Amino acid sequence: MIDLTDKVFLITGANRGIGLRCAEALHARGARLSLGVRDRKSLDGFHDRQGSDRIHIGQYIAEDWASHAAWVDDTVARFGRIDGLINNAGISLDVTLRNADEASLDRIWAVNCKAPLNMIRLALPHLEASGAGRVVNVASMSGKRVRNDNVAYNMSKFAVVALSHATRRIGWDKGVRVTALCPSFVRTDMTQGATKIAAADMTDPADLAELVATIVSLPNTASVAELLVNCRLEDMV
Ligand code: NAI
Repeated sequence: MIDLTDKVFLITGANRGIGLRCAEALHARGARLSLGVRDRKSLDGFHDRQGSDRIHIGQYIAEDWASHAAWVDDTVARFGRIDGLINNAGISLDVTLRNADEASLDRIWAVNCKAPLNMIRLALPHLEASGAGRVVNVASMSGKRVRNDNVAYNMSKFAVVALSHATRRIGWDKGVRVTALCPSFVRTDMTQGATKIAAADMTDPADLAELVATIVSLPNTASVAELLVNCRLEDMV
């Protein structure tokens, strides 16, 4: 296993839910974190709890590529390197085939697909320089099969899985390893009241974060291309 002490990880959407739990799990393993959030104040509590010497907070607005570039540049200026990128920020909008307005389609495409692609593009030279760069794209089980009417979310998450495999190919020779993390229902703000499954029966985001911390600690010779995590029984997944 790779020692994560002082390794530098970028996490998008790190202020709550899966992103925040990933931040906590990586911080507990000694990593330095660059946390990308829309509103810096939303991380005040985390900053206070964890101490600031290993935490950088940057502004990440998915639709604003200038914010991506500034955040990556500031991270390299502060920590001198980037070893990992957790593309976590994402949205789910209610878009069905019969009710697909273009603005919602554009928004979900921008946040769930275009922004992670651009973040990978910006981080890739640094991940390659690391020799053991890691990318975890938080896709979804909705990127593996279609079980509901939310066509835009499903399409976006299939695209995130494709992005993961594309990055895996591009980065492999320079030690970059990429994982598409595919959970089903996770107990976060996103699923609150959005499904008939009780919150208590959903995956705990802290458990996902432990998996992420393990995946990024694996050596270059143990690459996990996709990790499917379910809270209920489904055929094959
Ligand atoms: P959440 O709603 O608690 O967190 C989403 C995060 O993305 C927040 O930090 C939010 O500020 C950020 N975000 C949203 N729009 C943004 C924008 N325009 N610019 C910058 N940041 C933005 O939900 P959760 O569950 O923690 O979601 C994290 C990821 O996990 C998402 O990509 C989601 O699609 C994925 N996922 C969630 C599942 C669930 O059941 N909760 C299941 C499978 C995947």
